[in-house]
Amino acid sequence: MKLVVQSLLIIGCLILFNCKEEQTSKALSEDTIAYVDEPHSFAKPNEAAITHLDLEISVDFDRSVISGTATYTIDNKNSETLVLDSKFLSIKEAKADGVKTSFKLGEHHEQLGQALGIDIKPTTRTVSITYETTSQTEALQWLSPQQTADKTNPFLFTQGQAILTRTWIPIQDSPQLRITYNAKVKVPPGLMAVMSAENPKERIKDGLYSFNMAQPISPYLMALAVGDFDYKAVSSRTGVYAEPSLLDKVQNEFSDMEKMVAAAEALYGTYAWDQFDVIVLPPSFPFGGMENPRLTFATPTVVAGDKSLTSLIAHELAHSWSGNLVTNATWNDFWLNEGFTVYFEMRIMEALYGKDRANMLALISRQDLEEELEGFKNNPEATMLKLDLEGKNPDDGMNSIAYDKGYLFLRTLEETVGRDRFDNFLKNYFTTHAFKTMTTERFVNYLNEHLLEPNAINFNTNEWIYNSGIPENQSIIRSDKFSAVEGLLETFIKTNAIDAEITQDWTPQEWVHFIRNFPIEMTIEQFAALDNTFNLTNSTNSYIAMVWYEQSVKHNYRGNDIDNTITEFLNRVGRRWYVSTIFKAFKNADRVDEALEIYKKSRSNYHSVTVNTIDAMLGYSE
Ligand code: BES
Ligand code: ZN
Repeated sequence: MKLVVQSLLIIGCLILFNCKEEQTSKALSEDTIAYVDEPHSFAKPNEAAITHLDLEISVDFDRSVISGTATYTIDNKNSETLVLDSKFLSIKEAKADGVKTSFKLGEHHEQLGQALGIDIKPTTRTVSITYETTSQTEALQWLSPQQTADKTNPFLFTQGQAILTRTWIPIQDSPQLRITYNAKVKVPPGLMAVMSAENPKERIKDGLYSFNMAQPISPYLMALAVGDFDYKAVSSRTGVYAEPSLLDKVQNEFSDMEKMVAAAEALYGTYAWDQFDVIVLPPSFPFGGMENPRLTFATPTVVAGDKSLTSLIAHELAHSWSGNLVTNATWNDFWLNEGFTVYFEMRIMEALYGKDRANMLALISRQDLEEELEGFKNNPEATMLKLDLEGKNPDDGMNSIAYDKGYLFLRTLEETVGRDRFDNFLKNYFTTHAFKTMTTERFVNYLNEHLLEPNAINFNTNEWIYNSGIPENQSIIRSDKFSAVEGLLETFIKTNAIDAEITQDWTPQEWVHFIRNFPIEMTIEQFAALDNTFNLTNSTNSYIAMVWYEQSVKHNYRGNDIDNTITEFLNRVGRRWYVSTIFKAFKNADRVDEALEIYKKSRSNYHSVTVNTIDAMLGYSE
């Protein structure tokens, strides 16, 4: 009987609706509600999930400690425990609906930290935790005045991605969670404080700051910076924060921010976060940029003076859609954040500055990919887009494959289906999944249903995502400018002569391409000749300098006092990509002793994520 009824229903459904559509959208809405299992969080959000955070903390620069109370609103599905993630925190007290309750800290796991289980009632709606950070807290970097541009005040910034938010706030630290938040932050009078939230534009004298983040965000996007910095607007909804001595320069460098937001909106829909600001941090910041909602955190190494490295701003802005609006459900799906963002970054750059510039960037990414594939030739599973990071620190497993292979995949897809169709598809993808999370599998389904099948297009999506290496049907990227650079390099290697009239019009990207492609037979004399003519050792463009140092170390070039310059650079700059590229060059050139000599002194200037990478690379232990 049951079967008959069911068949009748199915037939009815076939007649009345397009049944397939119905079933998938039901399946989709079902798994957006259930949280997927994920290897990097102890939380059990299917039992009790946090939905809002009220944070009241004070920032103590004398003790290098943040302390306070975090109060969570919870969506409690009749559970008697709330499980949070906590790492290197000192937990003082827990309350459920305002009444003191017991809690238990689980065993310490090297990467994940501890499960913090709080006893609650099935009816509990709020939980608060009083806590303090410790000297081991990995998200925070406390900087001395000496490590800042203006050298008069200390500085603090946080870095949450991938699983470090739990080291400064007890939280359900999985990217598939979404919370709104309010915060009250007490800082030393005179200093400024900003968060990934609605921010002050002026300092508040007594140092008591209030924040509100009305749009729900993933916990890895919680962020705070405290120091001696001010605000300058670029447009009514964009602007910059920087230390006073840098503020004008930074405002000028990023003067195209509004144009970038407008170009991004024209491509994939309205900017969902109201305000888009950038804070330029001290040079130890471990990333080029971090897409904290409403307020991107950025390294000062992109402030080149000629706007040549601002694709970083396009990249972090693009995350306002890919990442912050549609978020990877787990770190195994990281390519959904970064691959889409690189694709989007290139499209913003093309819209603002044309195809020539975008194609140079695309070819740099293509060469990065080639080098990364070469590095993983004995470890091919690391070159799949969908990762398996179980048992690993996500920070170690997340490499540039997600960025550069992800980009190449999407570019190839665009070329196959045509730009108009692809843009339309992406816009719908972002709109449909706004403020939701996405798994690789759900993306593949969505792609099949909304782009490939309706247009009867065959595409080897699974090969791109689940296999190692690069499929045959890859897009071929060409740049006339880079071909000319390669021609000039060839001539230089043969004749030792270089036409400075040509190089005088080069963009930094052309210089980077020139330097990165030095052949193995390049001589020390040729290094010296280039350095004498172009003073590359003292380049003020951090990207040119970094690749020049890499090549100099590799080829043992030691002219122009370059050893001291490299040492100074590694002491000052903590951007992991730069630092690790140079240390890796030392290692590959069998110069680990020299690397360690430098690292012993520079290490204390770095944030924990850079320290972890370089410790492992150089086999360093304290
Ligand atoms: N979200 C990343 C930074 C990140 C990745 C932090 C993984 C922690 C774990 C950010 O958007 C990024 O990709 N930054 C790049 C710059 C970009 C232009 C490629 C960087 O820092 O170099
Ligand atoms: Zn990114």
